[in-house]
Amino acid sequence: MKKDTKISNAVIKRLPRYRRYLKELQKKGVDKISSNEFSSLIGYTASQIRQDLNNFGGFGQQGYGYNVEGLYNEISAILGLDKEYKMIIVGAGNLGQAIANYTYYYKAGFVVCGIFDINPRLIGLKINDIEVMDYENIVEYVEENQINIGIICTTKDSAQEVADKLCFAGVSGLWNFAPVDLEVPDHVAIENVHLSDSLHSLAYHMNRNATENE
Ligand code: NAI
Repeated sequence: MKKDTKISNAVIKRLPRYRRYLKELQKKGVDKISSNEFSSLIGYTASQIRQDLNNFGGFGQQGYGYNVEGLYNEISAILGLDKEYKMIIVGAGNLGQAIANYTYYYKAGFVVCGIFDINPRLIGLKINDIEVMDYENIVEYVEENQINIGIICTTKDSAQEVADKLCFAGVSGLWNFAPVDLEVPDHVAIENVHLSDSLHSLAYHMNRNATENE
């Protein structure tokens, strides 16, 4: 794999989509796919796909296209999905519980080890067999269990303090659902998730379609 730290986020964000389509092809027993076929399937131009993959060293072969399993494995490795990650959820409210109940992560190598909250009524409960623990003990837990990722599902006002604690305890990634921009040290990766952004994009596309059809 070519080492390049300046790969744009737009490219990184397309990789999971490539991987998803390659998985579907594998399930259908497809071994290889031409760049044009892959392009019409996934909806990006063949040149866009080539450019994206060239960031990491290519992987296609002239006159052959792409080896489906090989490319799937390469993209998985680029994304770091050939490893296992230990995660904890902070905030056992509506969202924290929904995330704890969603089991897809386990199949993908992301293991939810524990949930933390400050609310005594929630501490001790089990959600999808995962215990809700006292937030007081979070630093020791992260250190002892070598947790990699903290999932922030607390109220907006607590989110920075939670992030500080998780970074201090040694996580290397934060998946932040709280609607606030968090400050974290450079060595900690952060991904903010805003479902409303996706909804707003939908509204934009609906309105653009309506204008174009007038
Ligand atoms: P909620 O009020 O049901 O749950 C929040 C939980 O965080 C409570 O159980 C509370 O006791 C706990 N909490 C607060 N401070 C804490 C701390 N310092 N340590 C540990 N736990 C703490 O709220 P809900 O609906 O689950 O939403 C959680 C967060 O996610 C909110 O910030 C909300 O705005 C955000 N959200 C984001 C979405 C997105 O698309 N990014 C979608 C839905 C919610």
